[in-house]
Amino acid sequence: MKIVMLGAPGAGKGTQAKKIAEKYQIPHISTGDIFRANIKAGTELGSKAKTYMDKGLLVPDELVVDLVVDRVNQDDCSKGYVLDGFPRTIPQAEALDEALATLGQKMDYAINIEVKDEDIISRMSGRRACVDCGATYHIVNIPPKKEGICDNCGGELILRDDDKPETVKKRLGVYHDQTQPLIEYYTNKKILVEVDGTIGIDKIFSKIVKVLGE
Ligand code: AP5
Ligand code: MG
Repeated sequence: MKIVMLGAPGAGKGTQAKKIAEKYQIPHISTGDIFRANIKAGTELGSKAKTYMDKGLLVPDELVVDLVVDRVNQDDCSKGYVLDGFPRTIPQAEALDEALATLGQKMDYAINIEVKDEDIISRMSGRRACVDCGATYHIVNIPPKKEGICDNCGGELILRDDDKPETVKKRLGVYHDQTQPLIEYYTNKKILVEVDGTIGIDKIFSKIVKVLGE
């Protein structure tokens, strides 16, 4: 089962992708997480990506596409995967489809999580992410058991650099310009699934499971 998660920054792509990956036992591939891991490790890719991410801009397609195509060709992806944060532009989607076509494969579902811009801004300022394992919390909606500490691994919880309100506004603008056209792209491929992203995490997940199957 090959799945793409679509949605604005903060719509809940990562939250749902983790649940999908766990239930269906497929890898969760988040390009944002890959870049953040590279920034933390001080790699060249990380330092290139950071200059764009800190401004709320997309990392150039050429830095992302090969990375994802290599990742989905790894053995653990043979039964499928859930892509979170990729594709984010039409050229990325086309490159992915071309890479899949050479293997005689195609994407199965594109799940679009719909949340209005005004709800996004308040969500992001409350999000906290673990510096070690990447788990995400929300100080009001999904608080950790102990403030500032990750339930999973005991790591420190921080506000992401790009979650400051000004950067979030910029990311939303970039989303509407460059990523939203993918909704039409996947509608035309007849694999788009629309989900209301404001109804609570578990309800959203049950709607997704209804589509993907038990
Ligand atoms: P990335 O890490 O992908 O960020 P994003 O798309 O902006 O999305 P987020 O991770 O911020 O949000 P999310 O939808 O995963 O929401 P979450 O589940 O955390 O990318 C970061 C940057 O990397 C980009 O800006 C770009 O520069 C670069 N990049 C990455 N991929 C790229 C690509 N392919 N091409 C080019 N550049 C790329 O939820 C958000 C919050 O809401 C959390 O606190 C959560 O707990 C809470 N929440 C979730 N669901 C609900 C709910 N139903 N009700 C209430 N609260 C909820
Ligand atoms: Mg995410």
